[in-house]
Amino acid sequence: MADDSQTAGNAPVEPDDWRPVGIDISTPSIARVYDAVLGGKDNYPVDRAIAEASLAIVPEIGDVGRYNRAILGRGVRYMAEQGIRQFLDLGSGLPTVQNTHQVAQEHSPEARVVYVDKDPIVLAHGRALLAENDRTTVVTADLREPAEILNHPDVRALIDFDQPVGLMLVGVVHHLNDDEGPEQIVEAYKKALPPGSFLFLTHFCASSPDAVALEKALLTDLGSGRFRTIEEISAYFDGLELVAPGVVFLPQWQPEEPVEEPLTVGQKLMAGGIAKKPTA
Ligand SMILES: C[S@@+](CC[C@H](N)C(=O)[O-])C[C@H]1O[C@@H](n2cnc3c(N)ncnc32)[C@H](O)[C@@H]1O
Repeated sequence: MADDSQTAGNAPVEPDDWRPVGIDISTPSIARVYDAVLGGKDNYPVDRAIAEASLAIVPEIGDVGRYNRAILGRGVRYMAEQGIRQFLDLGSGLPTVQNTHQVAQEHSPEARVVYVDKDPIVLAHGRALLAENDRTTVVTADLREPAEILNHPDVRALIDFDQPVGLMLVGVVHHLNDDEGPEQIVEAYKKALPPGSFLFLTHFCASSPDAVALEKALLTDLGSGRFRTIEEISAYFDGLELVAPGVVFLPQWQPEEPVEEPLTVGQKLMAGGIAKKPTA
């Protein structure tokens, strides 16, 4: 986070030159690029360059981030209404508005949330937000290692895998490249879930020529950002019971207000849904 009160000797340090300990600001970070897209302040020039390049391809990119945060809120509320009291939010990102624990605990104060993100900046910023909340924690780990995450002592301290879990992969599986085996990774988490659990997943969708152009730019500049088809995204839910209306573009998932058709390029840039692990 920039802080223009920092100085080195007598020379004022430009906000963008401030280098927080342990945070590499010479390489773009997915969490910080997303923060820039959402209009946050926890980002650096290297991140903003990618956000701006994305904006040049899809001018609605800021709205896309907001559609994703909005479905995150609707989805967590839905799972809470179905009785879910423990949430494992993988690739949780920097704290912003409508964070999972706020939505879940607004519904049920006893709800427990474990945030997992590979980027240490998420823990750095999450600590302050969670200092007063003993039902929520942040773990710095790579979701490509399901066994490590599922057995992590901080995960086990809050999540009881004998009770239904809300497993969240919101806006993150598209950061797994094809050669990293995203299907097998998602499958490993599904297998670990007890019956009655939910999988909540949203994903970049190859829905237009602009989406394809953005995929090319992100893969080049950020190193990840696969835009998959609705069929490919739906396959992550195989073996589970999809909640209505199924896997759809984000604004179409249980909207709170009518959605005008046809959808715009931005409204179709991501798709997702929620599904339940059968109880019998
Ligand atoms: C686009 S943000 C999404 C944040 C939040 N889930 C949302 O949808 O608003 C993706 C997050 O996933 C994290 N991430 C990407 N790959 C990851 C991995 N292999 N393991 C854990 N976190 C990862 C990034 O650091 C980033 O914070």
